[in-house]
Amino acid sequence: MTFTSVLEKLTQRLPLTGEDFVFLLTGLTPGEEQQLYAAARSTAQRQFGNRIFIRGLIEISNLCKNDCYYCGIRKSNQKVQRYRLTKEQILSCCEIGYPLGFRTFVLQGGEDGAFTDDWLCGLLQEMKRRFPDCAITLSLGERSRESYRRLKQAGADRYLLREETADFAHYHRLHPAQMSPQHRQDCLFALKELGYQTGAGFMVGSPGQTVEHLAEDFLFLQKLQPHMVGIGPFLPHQDTPFRDCPPGTAAQTVRCVAILRLLLPGANLPATTALATLDPKGRQKAVLAGANVIMPNLSPAEVRDKYSLYDHKAHSGAEAAEGLRLLQRQMEEIGYTLCIDRGDSR
Ligand code: 5AD
Repeated sequence: MTFTSVLEKLTQRLPLTGEDFVFLLTGLTPGEEQQLYAAARSTAQRQFGNRIFIRGLIEISNLCKNDCYYCGIRKSNQKVQRYRLTKEQILSCCEIGYPLGFRTFVLQGGEDGAFTDDWLCGLLQEMKRRFPDCAITLSLGERSRESYRRLKQAGADRYLLREETADFAHYHRLHPAQMSPQHRQDCLFALKELGYQTGAGFMVGSPGQTVEHLAEDFLFLQKLQPHMVGIGPFLPHQDTPFRDCPPGTAAQTVRCVAILRLLLPGANLPATTALATLDPKGRQKAVLAGANVIMPNLSPAEVRDKYSLYDHKAHSGAEAAEGLRLLQRQMEEIGYTLCIDRGDSR
């Protein structure tokens, strides 16, 4: 196996094997590594030019029925102050975001039992009434197929649900026994079938993760063919069982972004907050490796601290919706520009 032969497969859109992915993750010389980024970057440029799509991220609740070992808003964390936004608060976030240039709103939250289908459908209909030219993305975890169907009908366009890790044994290392990786993956296929622009993704460097596990994520995504993939480094949170585990690295995360861009040329790939939290240059590095989306925080300022998925989560400066000028400057530095557009995947 050589770098040229694997790159050739990618450009001809032939399926890669697990060994191919492990090779890309571990076997490249520094020169080949740079070629990988250059190829990913020009693929993104062909698809999107030098434009970066922005999404307004609204963190609508930090209540969650799950107890994932890595996550700061897990159910058994007693230290986090819980909150849930009202419909009015969510709509005001959109009112603030629209004139700033946001044409996609992402509603993200824990698996909060208060989010019934009726409640969410009412919210979605009102959002679509007030902002008919905006896309709405949901990121609210695992729900029934019927629920996904109703939410779609009420106006949701996209859904983000990271598989977190595609390896079932590794999944069980990160989650309590009652959580099912099969169910999570089934949800992703159901979302796609229902016509959502579907986003999957995984953490890089989560406890116990090997390069073979990462290769399984790539194989899973090769099969799923999602419209979006969100990846970020694992970062420890002090009030979780993984508090003492080492974080993932920026280098490995950026390498994964580049591989994903070549694997899924038209997909929307965000430069994530977790990466920006780990490395101040992370956002720029991800864009230079083929990322084309940034999701600044549009949540009300007073709740941002409370949506603490991991320690030191960035939510000000260029991570905040108010910081768009700073973000624009960071993008201009590397030859890109923020773009006001729904930014559907290709
Ligand atoms: N480190 C990095 N990412 C995390 N997430 C949750 N907890 C952490 C953590 N400690 C990610 C998960 C989830 C997304 C909303 O945040 O991948 O899907």
